[in-house]
Amino acid sequence: MTADQPGYDALADLYDRTFPDPFQTALERRAVDAFADMVLESRPDAGVVDVGCGTGGVSAHLAGRGLSVCGVDPSAGMLAVARRRHPQLTLRTDDARLVTVDLSRVGGVVARHSLIHVPPDEVREILVDWSARLSAGAVVLISTQAADEPGVHEFDHAVAKAWRWHPDALADAVVAAGFAEIWRTVSRADADHRFPDVHLAARRP
Ligand SMILES: C[S@@+](CC[C@H](N)C(=O)[O-])C[C@H]1O[C@@H](n2cnc3c(N)ncnc32)[C@H](O)[C@@H]1O
Repeated sequence: MTADQPGYDALADLYDRTFPDPFQTALERRAVDAFADMVLESRPDAGVVDVGCGTGGVSAHLAGRGLSVCGVDPSAGMLAVARRRHPQLTLRTDDARLVTVDLSRVGGVVARHSLIHVPPDEVREILVDWSARLSAGAVVLISTQAADEPGVHEFDHAVAKAWRWHPDALADAVVAAGFAEIWRTVSRADADHRFPDVHLAARRP
């Protein structure tokens, strides 16, 4: 059964009005563009999966970069907004376990602020599973709210249970799953962000 996200179902329209642009900073946009560049350089014909695609803004951005994108999300409400705003996209109900996706044919997986809603031990298992199913050369980009304190910390997210990761803890989980880290960015908290943010890119050797 797909993970339940009643909070996002109820707030999908408000989320859409609050975040009409998927990127709040130039760095976020560039991290996603750097991910797109890496996939286009190594596996231009392979598709990418946007895990927890929400209202579809990142999926649409990647499609605009020439990538074939499949957006998945467990929230029917978020997918309904995504379908309305981006009718050209391929979108389906699924969660981070990606049971509906043939990962062997995928060149990249992006998960922007969606794995925050998955308990940390489950994230570690999911990363091991992605690594086993992806082909060599596939790229992953994961972003989460970050912590300066070591480890992983539950926090009071407005919509659903959530955890933020110290960048080293996220990198440890990604590397333990069999990926090789390529780069990471860490942006500090600011007027629009209560916590630092980490974007981490890695490749399946
Ligand atoms: C903060 S929104 C981010 C949306 C989008 N990735 C973006 O960057 O704009 C988090 C999304 O993660 C989804 N989500 C929640 N639990 C999930 C899970 N177990 N697997 C995949 N996505 C999940 C939510 O439904 C929601 O659409």
